[in-house]
Amino acid sequence: MLTVSVTVDGMKKVSFAEFGGPDVLHLVDAEEPHAGPDQVRIAVRAAGVNPADWRVREGQRLGAHPVELPSGVGLDASGVVDEVGEGVEGVEVGDHVFGEGASTYAEFAVLSAWARMPEGLTFEEAAGYPSVVETALRIIREVGVQSGQTLLVSGASGGVGSAVLQIARDRGITVIGTAGAANQEYLRSLGALATTYGEGWVERVRRLGRIDAALDLAGSGVIRELVELTGDPQKVISIADLDAPDLGVRFSGVAGSVPAALAEAVSLISRKKLHIPVEKSYTLAEAAAAHIDSQAGHTRGRRVIVV
Ligand SMILES: NC(=O)c1ccc[n+]([C@@H]2O[C@H](COP(=O)([O-])OP(=O)(O)OC[C@H]3O[C@@H](n4cnc5c(N)ncnc54)[C@H](OP(=O)(O)O)[C@@H]3O)[C@@H](O)[C@H]2O)c1
Repeated sequence: MLTVSVTVDGMKKVSFAEFGGPDVLHLVDAEEPHAGPDQVRIAVRAAGVNPADWRVREGQRLGAHPVELPSGVGLDASGVVDEVGEGVEGVEVGDHVFGEGASTYAEFAVLSAWARMPEGLTFEEAAGYPSVVETALRIIREVGVQSGQTLLVSGASGGVGSAVLQIARDRGITVIGTAGAANQEYLRSLGALATTYGEGWVERVRRLGRIDAALDLAGSGVIRELVELTGDPQKVISIADLDAPDLGVRFSGVAGSVPAALAEAVSLISRKKLHIPVEKSYTLAEAAAAHIDSQAGHTRGRRVIVV
């Protein structure tokens, strides 16, 4: 579990020196990072916990470049700007922002994309949005679903699913979501038709409507059924099943524009069309517990580290 040492100077951050299970995470003393050109530094108030964080910790290769050890953890964060890098305009020290960067499970982090937090959003909530909104916007665009059509979302109650459902509904798309029994009412509260996954789910979905396009967010081995339901592998996208291309289905893994996604998130949140609930908050010292819980695969909305 986490070892905690006393800060003399610098800051605390969560770090791992070897790939492995949650117990490779340690809260360590580290040098503070500084904002380079086109970056801002924030005093982190909260960091979003994404499945990508524990996938990287395990040594799964997600990006184009290998992870250098020791490594920090976390992509998403919210906080207060305390350094503005060269060439950055439109943001000042003291602004409350949310966005994406690196090593965000820390007292200070550098962001490469950010936006001012919309009125009324807490730091805790704000940290849950950046990656999931970027992913949701990207896969809705890539699957090509239009207003008036019906989108099936497999694994609809997590972070990405919560964003997909609300954005699609805002665009006039009918959404059918699958989730566990405990999340049926939650999906309905987001404007979706809902049914459970597991035995007989294809028939239950058929009874809810004809499917024009489908998204696999859970990687639960349902690609063949999603192709059957849409009638066309081009109408299916997965973000979680690396074997999807074997069945002619696209795997979406390259992030789109994060600044554009944040701008869209601000607009949706301000219009009260998007809300990602915080399932549970953890301290920096509880990062391993946050990973264990996220890895169990049943997060509603997002888990968050509060700094
Ligand atoms: N390729 C990319 O660009 C990209 C980007 C973001 C995320 N991802 C990946 O996409 C996945 C989803 O991310 P997330 O952040 O939304 O995860 P998450 O918040 O952990 O949500 C996982 C969801 O999956 C549902 N689920 C669990 N077992 C299921 C099953 N057998 N069938 C259908 N649904 C099931 C759970 O619903 P219940 O709780 O109701 O059971 C839970 O709500 C992760 O694997 C993540 O690594 C990929």
